[in-house]
Amino acid sequence: MTRRGLLLVQDPAERAELRPVVDAIAATTFERWLSRRTAEDNRPEHEFVVFGAAMRIAEAERLPVSGKLVVVCVTFLHDTYAIHRITETAIRDRMKRDAELAARLREEKARQRIEHMEGGARNAVLLLCELEHPDRPGQPIVAGDVRERCAAIIAAHDCWKLGKPHPAASDREALVCFEADALWPLHPLGVLADLERPGESGDPKDVDDPDEWRKQIRHNLETLREYRANWDGTGEVFQDSVSIFRTAEGHRLYREWAGLWGAPLPDGSRL
Ligand SMILES: [Fe+2]
Ligand SMILES: [Fe+2]
Repeated sequence: MTRRGLLLVQDPAERAELRPVVDAIAATTFERWLSRRTAEDNRPEHEFVVFGAAMRIAEAERLPVSGKLVVVCVTFLHDTYAIHRITETAIRDRMKRDAELAARLREEKARQRIEHMEGGARNAVLLLCELEHPDRPGQPIVAGDVRERCAAIIAAHDCWKLGKPHPAASDREALVCFEADALWPLHPLGVLADLERPGESGDPKDVDDPDEWRKQIRHNLETLREYRANWDGTGEVFQDSVSIFRTAEGHRLYREWAGLWGAPLPDGSRL
């Protein structure tokens, strides 16, 4: 998956610069965190799928190699700090019975998200300080400014899930990372991760039941659409009137992945 992602970068010199960094960070992150993941957290393929989407968007947006290095570091290191997830479904269910408890649950969800982002940023700094560049002994795997940018993006990478209009399109590296990460719940492995995650009842869904897949993808598309309201009144320019995508390539991938399922898009159209 990392090979295919790198092949999306057109310039051979850029690919040659990115390859050792991608290989070293992906291997270490997988060994240290991703391979130990539980179903409650996420599937270990998450970062690899996000990496592929991020390279497509970064290339289409003509990010320079320094920007692509930031994106590489963020894609592999943004979700290394696991939290116990509180879903919007759980909050909505609780709201029907006890509004006060639902409000407390929402506060707790926000606190955990912040812990997840800050913990991920700390892990990223530690790992990027620790790893040597494979071809340049004695030198860090990435320069200090790339490390700092990566940590700053990770420290806010899920703010959009807390209702904030983040990131702004002017922060192009953060925007690439955001769109690539937001596409995950539409990818087949992302939908599978949702089905496998134990729900409130403690049971995962029946992954052999096509109806569960249809329900999950409809839910995931709807949830993505709801976040568009975060940017109301900001003047940000989107690719359509309902989705959260601002880059042309992110939007193309969104339509393509959503179209895989034959589900109508939030604007009512189908691919
Ligand atoms: Fe995250
Ligand atoms: Fe993620």
